[in-house]
Amino acid sequence: MHNKRANNHSPSKPYLAGHAVPVRELHSGHRSEILNHLLQLGEEDRRLRFGTQTPDEVIHHYVEGLDFNRDTVFGVFDADLKLIGVAHLAYLPEINGQARAAEFGVSVLPKGRAQGLGTALLQRSAVHSRNSNIQTLYVHCLANNKAMMHLAQKAGMTVEYAYGDADAYLKLPPANPSSIVAEAANEQWADFDYALKENLKLANQAWWWFLGRPGHAR
Ligand SMILES: CC(C)(COP(=O)(O)OP(=O)(O)OC[C@H]1O[C@@H](n2cnc3c(N)ncnc32)[C@H](O)[C@@H]1OP(=O)(O)O)[C@@H](O)C(=O)NCCC(=O)NCCS
Repeated sequence: MHNKRANNHSPSKPYLAGHAVPVRELHSGHRSEILNHLLQLGEEDRRLRFGTQTPDEVIHHYVEGLDFNRDTVFGVFDADLKLIGVAHLAYLPEINGQARAAEFGVSVLPKGRAQGLGTALLQRSAVHSRNSNIQTLYVHCLANNKAMMHLAQKAGMTVEYAYGDADAYLKLPPANPSSIVAEAANEQWADFDYALKENLKLANQAWWWFLGRPGHAR
């Protein structure tokens, strides 16, 4: 089920070139990269992501508090292995007799937008939730967040508005062999993509060492 494809090719927008977006599951070793990603968000993007004004100290606190054993964090890396998109899937406490639920929060840096990264992170989170026996996926956001509302509706989420906020939710069917294979395939593709970018980066560094980095006098 994964990932947006498009036909036009632009080197600055690699995921519009018809490639599936590789989404990797992150772990605690990625904490500083997640922090760096979030600190790059401007004031308005932070407000849209966290629902309120969010100074640097709050972001530091949020990242320190991420519990990778309890929640799942996904990322998309650019060609320099910098995190260009991050999604946090937070599992909500179980309440007796109620469906298990998770809340989704996402950010994509401005230079990576409109290439399907947000969609891919939402799709991956939905499949992962489904495979983790989660029955409802929520997104809580500001009602004027047009891009997120569009993403949510495109993913088939039902949106309810109240007092300037919006809650979007998606009822997930139980896991089946194809949802498990879909997730495993994306995970493998993301590992392969990361290894490729890592090798390319090392090869570039070796050439820069010999020849000097373009635009940098030695
Ligand atoms: C919301 C966000 C994650 C989307 O990321 P993205 O990588 O650009 O998402 P995609 O490229 O997959 O899709 C964006 C879609 O929204 C649409 N869109 C963008 N801005 C829009 C707007 N102002 N009004 C309506 N639709 C809009 C795009 O056209 C695109 O639709 P399409 O796929 O049908 O062409 C990104 O804008 C972001 O990080 N915003 C700041 C943080 C935030 O708002 N997080 C969500 C709350 S948790």
